[in-house]
Amino acid sequence: MTSKETLLANTQSPVGASLLAKTTNQSPSSLNDTPHSRAGRNVAPSLPQVSGPTLDFTEVCLTLGRTTILDKVTFQVRPGSVHALVGPNGGGKSSLIKTLLGQMPHQGRLSLQWPGEPGTIGYVPQSLEFDRGLPMTVDDFMAAMCQRRPAFLGLSKHYAAAIGEALERVGMQDKRKRRMGALSGGERQRVLLAQGLIPPPQLLVLDEPMSALDEAGIQVFERLLVDWRAAGITVLWIEHDLEAVGRLADHVTGLNRRVLFDATPQQALTPDRLLTLFSTHPRSLA
Ligand SMILES: Nc1ncnc2c1ncn2[C@@H]1O[C@H](COP(=O)(O)OP(=O)(O)OP(=O)(O)O)[C@@H](O)[C@H]1O
Ligand SMILES: [Mg+2]
Repeated sequence: MTSKETLLANTQSPVGASLLAKTTNQSPSSLNDTPHSRAGRNVAPSLPQVSGPTLDFTEVCLTLGRTTILDKVTFQVRPGSVHALVGPNGGGKSSLIKTLLGQMPHQGRLSLQWPGEPGTIGYVPQSLEFDRGLPMTVDDFMAAMCQRRPAFLGLSKHYAAAIGEALERVGMQDKRKRRMGALSGGERQRVLLAQGLIPPPQLLVLDEPMSALDEAGIQVFERLLVDWRAAGITVLWIEHDLEAVGRLADHVTGLNRRVLFDATPQQALTPDRLLTLFSTHPRSLA
């Protein structure tokens, strides 16, 4: 099954356990709150169970017209890790994600290995193109993205609770009846994040999820990241905020048409490497 087929197949699947129940059950504090730890014994904390897949990009190439967008891109995203993808504008980050989701043609090999049955992929795109004048509320948008029943018939009972919980998690519960076109950039970004949570994904692909978020929005995102990590979800995260990457990612790949580094943030985010990544014009690498 291709990643696109997996994505489509899974967006049709029913919502399982509620989003909040899922993260509460698997939060680090509840994992550590065993009878042994409560009794004060010195027990190593339980490791979160990995539910996300391994991703392998092997010599992935993408050419559009005569322009090489991706040149033999090879790296691995480990299961249950938060893996950041950084690089300059036009470096091919969003294009790489689109090849993963089956939205762009590519050469080379892309593989997803799930720990069990193929799971759900959540995707938060870089931006949302839509007519600002559309009479589409936040609830309508969530319904269109998450449920099978047509959005104009309202929220289905099946999805209403999960949609409410997802909007609450991103702090948009009070703005469900607002028109999408009337939202601020940061509010729209929060709604994009919320739709990526339904159905609960095992792989999350995030294309600049923090852009336009204010301080409170960034805190919301960081809390979600803690929950995803605790749940063993694999997160592939495009980000320009290198300070946030250094603080929150397990691994980071520098992409400027080709892979320029692939290491831990401590190893990768050195002044020399960043200078190479951001000063090299993509077209000069031929
Ligand atoms: N459909 C397309 N047709 C032609 N060229 C495209 C297409 N989509 C993307 N490109 C080009 O591919 C290059 C990589 O674009 P991409 O959006 O992947 O970059 P990015 O790393 O995500 O940049 P940013 O940080 O600005 O989001 C750019 O030069 C862009 O103009
Ligand atoms: Mg992009």
